[in-house]
Amino acid sequence: MSSEDVGLIPVGKIVSKIKNKGSNKPSEDDKNKFNRPIPTKPVFRSITKKEDDQRRAEEEMVRNTGIPKRYQAITMAEIERRGIPVTVERQAELIKRYIAILDEAIKEGNGLYLRGEAGTMKTTFAIAIMREAMKKNYSCFFISAVSLMDKLFSLPDAERRVFETKIATTDILVVDDLGQEHEKSWIQTKIRALFNERYNNMKTTIITTNLGSQVRELYVESMIDRLQSVNWIIDFKGKSVREKVSQKRSL
Ligand SMILES: Nc1ncnc2c1ncn2[C@@H]1O[C@H](COP(=O)(O)OP(=O)(O)OP(=O)(O)O)[C@@H](O)[C@H]1O
Ligand SMILES: [Mg+2]
Repeated sequence: MSSEDVGLIPVGKIVSKIKNKGSNKPSEDDKNKFNRPIPTKPVFRSITKKEDDQRRAEEEMVRNTGIPKRYQAITMAEIERRGIPVTVERQAELIKRYIAILDEAIKEGNGLYLRGEAGTMKTTFAIAIMREAMKKNYSCFFISAVSLMDKLFSLPDAERRVFETKIATTDILVVDDLGQEHEKSWIQTKIRALFNERYNNMKTTIITTNLGSQVRELYVESMIDRLQSVNWIIDFKGKSVREKVSQKRSL
């Protein structure tokens, strides 16, 4: 099985990526061009206490709403600044129309059902909407369907009641990845949820596996898509190099 079969980057490409990193070094000639420091006046813009407090309050607010670290910078303005991919232009237009009637939608209890393939910005747009609502002082809460189930089943009674009240009364509740909490076996669901949690919180995960394309049968596409977006893939080929006791000593 080749790495391309499972949509992975072949090791050659990784190696050249790593090698190219070093090629940014200046040549001997270039080095001499910059050997005298050029004095420049440092420019400091001090952050006022008010600005600092405002920033902290905003960060705190984002944290309290359950928005994962990976998406904490997301707003509609930020999405537009990064550039809306052509494949989701139409969806982005619809999201903007929803934002334009947000007050009315919240008043009437009208939400959205964002459905589609892995990595098509569903979560991103849901969070962008939350941020618009937060600007207007609506209460918002984001939770993945897996965590929602987990909490409902495992929180002690008193805490669960507080949690239930929160999710029942918040103006906007985003339930992310509905359906994936039921997929396949319990352990696969848990592993997927763990990877997702780490991905969302931007934590490094290193995985080793013997699985080739079966990985796609065992785990959902969205998990593979996430893993590939943050991990380099290195393929190991050839015979086992594990030392065998029979090589060291015969019976
Ligand atoms: N303009 C943009 N603003 C924000 N993210 C963008 C933009 N263009 C591309 N992206 C990318 O979109 C990717 C996928 O977004 P997101 O996690 O919202 O997808 P999803 O549809 O929820 O996927 P899944 O079904 O796997 O949960 C992000 O990793 C991000 O890098
Ligand atoms: Mg998502």
